[in-house]
Amino acid sequence: MKFFVDTADIKEIKELNDLGLVDGVTTNPSLIMKSGGKIADVTKQICDIVEGPVSAEVTATDYDGMMKQAKVLAKIADNIAIKVPLTWDGLKACRALRSDGHMVNVTLCFSANQALLAAKAGATFISPFIGRIDDMGIDGVELISEIRTIYDNYGFKTEILAASIRTVNHVKQVAMIGADVATVPPATLKALVKHPLTDKGLEQFLADWAKTGQTIG
Ligand code: E4P
Repeated sequence: MKFFVDTADIKEIKELNDLGLVDGVTTNPSLIMKSGGKIADVTKQICDIVEGPVSAEVTATDYDGMMKQAKVLAKIADNIAIKVPLTWDGLKACRALRSDGHMVNVTLCFSANQALLAAKAGATFISPFIGRIDDMGIDGVELISEIRTIYDNYGFKTEILAASIRTVNHVKQVAMIGADVATVPPATLKALVKHPLTDKGLEQFLADWAKTGQTIG
């Protein structure tokens, strides 16, 4: 499973990219707002760091507006994936942008039928938002499983990009189901390394090592 990092924070992206953990980046209007920068500048900086797909989202809601914005965003770098919302106009834009050779991430997916439509529109990525489904008291991870089954049934090439990931358990669950990509906030990505028994074991080893009075090298 590929890791995309779900942020527009340049410092975090650099740090995780240096570790070899970043296969791509997803941004959205809220993350751009959080970054405090201009979308073109922030996105360019991200594309200069990361080789993989960097999702930049349109904010127009009509087809013509989306296409106009997509052309501006696509010029930022070769690795831009245009992010469009899962609406009729978004699907129409997806089809047209794919025909023009762009990568497209169809976002704000909350049902398997929506994901089916996105695949039929030729989406490069579908982004089901599992955390926001959990927020409604419904199991968001189940949606990843449903989409996996449907895409495998018909051989769709659209990659399942599990989004709105909130916990380390989400990461494990979507990996077990077979999501192609998980886009993970930096803090959650960093938390994957943590286990109390690792800390406890290390503490014990270091205490015993001190008792030997030895040094290495
Ligand atoms: C995905 O591309 C979105 O940017 C993101 O995962 C949304 O997550 P949230 O529900 O935590 O805002």
